[in-house]
Amino acid sequence: MNKNEIRIFAPATIANISCGFDVLGLALEAVGDEMVVRKTSEKGIKITKLTGQDLPTETLQNVAGVAGLALLAASEYDGGFEIEIYKKIKAGSGIGSSAASSAGAVWAMNALLGNPFSKLELVKFAMEGERLASGVAHADNVAPALFGGFTLVRSYQPLDIINIPTPPALYATVIHPQIEVKTSDSRRILKTNISLEDGIKQWGNVGGLIAGLFTNDYDLIGRSLVDHIVEPIRSILIPGFDKVKEDALEAGALGCGISGSGPSIFALSEGEDIARSVAEAMKKVYQKIGVDNDVHVSKINTEGIKIL
Ligand code: HSE
Repeated sequence: MNKNEIRIFAPATIANISCGFDVLGLALEAVGDEMVVRKTSEKGIKITKLTGQDLPTETLQNVAGVAGLALLAASEYDGGFEIEIYKKIKAGSGIGSSAASSAGAVWAMNALLGNPFSKLELVKFAMEGERLASGVAHADNVAPALFGGFTLVRSYQPLDIINIPTPPALYATVIHPQIEVKTSDSRRILKTNISLEDGIKQWGNVGGLIAGLFTNDYDLIGRSLVDHIVEPIRSILIPGFDKVKEDALEAGALGCGISGSGPSIFALSEGEDIARSVAEAMKKVYQKIGVDNDVHVSKINTEGIKIL
């Protein structure tokens, strides 16, 4: 491969992780997009190929294009880039499709330029892609895609991202009922105020989840995977949500909730065998009610985006 071109894997991600709306996320190993990015003497960004999903290739309407332009604007490089995107992640499925394209584009461009930007700066550029996709520049998908593992957005102003360790036996199961929910729509239905009572429960769980991840305390991780604020509202948009969750927990999952803005549902389990039983249990619910679905069982991706 010549040094003007790079082929990468950009992982799917699970944002929120139940209690951490807009602040927590994790990267998956088994699902992700491929991208080829190459330097060109022509200025600007061109999306020269996009397969797997029906998405715009016009630079200003494509999340990779917009994130890439944010990087170019901050860079001294006076050439441009061509981007090929091979989508494996379905748009609107709730596992960070737009984040993979945005983060992948800026990570690859940075690598081709000799890494002038830090990962934190790349998160900022990639957030511009998220702004285009959902109307809000949230970082909880692009941060784990770029850093790998679990990430916490401790603050947006100024942006402060903390990488959290991954307990070795943790596996994710994700099921996607075949409907599309736009993040912008599933954000619109949320309330903008929460009660102090719900806040207390929620930040107790965020602290508990972080402590559990640091100490490999799987029970504590499970007890903390509870969302008192967003899930009760958004779950209404997801067919069979309560039953999928009940059966996933019954099959041994530590916890289960909505992946990002949905409609995918995720569960975390201790060990691959349990994660596979959880996948079977989730699938059965959708078979019974006649909803087509895709299911993935994945290790947590501690590396993030990587060269192929
Ligand atoms: N935190 C965002 C949301 C993630 O829930 O709207 C979207 O993938």
